[in-house]
Amino acid sequence: MKGIFKLYLILSVFFAAACQSSKNRTSGASPHKEKKEIRPGEVIFKQQCQVCHGINEDKSGPALKVIFSENRKMQWVKKFIVNSQQLIQSGDKLANAVYKKYHESYMPEFKQLSEKQLDELLKHIKLEYEKKKQ
Ligand code: HEC
Repeated sequence: MKGIFKLYLILSVFFAAACQSSKNRTSGASPHKEKKEIRPGEVIFKQQCQVCHGINEDKSGPALKVIFSENRKMQWVKKFIVNSQQLIQSGDKLANAVYKKYHESYMPEFKQLSEKQLDELLKHIKLEYEKKKQ
């Protein structure tokens, strides 16, 4: 039993070291500067939006840079994300135009997202859009 534990310790140290060295190799000349923080908005985007949306390219849904490139009102964008069908059915012209353009495909509701999460999400989209624009 003791032997197995020792082996486990040795192996985990070994793997940790192996991981570390491959990280350093891929991050180029200045590994410390490039430490990438994962933004909360990025996690939400990847888990809940990415199946249908790119930020800079169209998928089944529109490229979300449109929010900033077309100066959408943030209140409108949030309403659309939370419950697009409600906005469409309320007769909102822009929402209906977007819905038609994307062949009336249905975007699910995201009522569970808090105001703070929506802000994080929009911040992430904006940063990724601006990165690409440069
Ligand atoms: C199942 C696919 C799907 C998912 C998942 C999805 N969307 Fe959409 N989204 C669409 C489609 C399709 C449209 C085009 C409008 C329509 O058909 O309702 C759209 C439109 C939009 C628009 C309006 C774009 C404009 O022109 O102003 C925004 C903003 C948006 N989505 C944000 C999001 C965000 C943020 C998420 C994740 C929380 C998300 N969507 C998840 C399919 C999706």
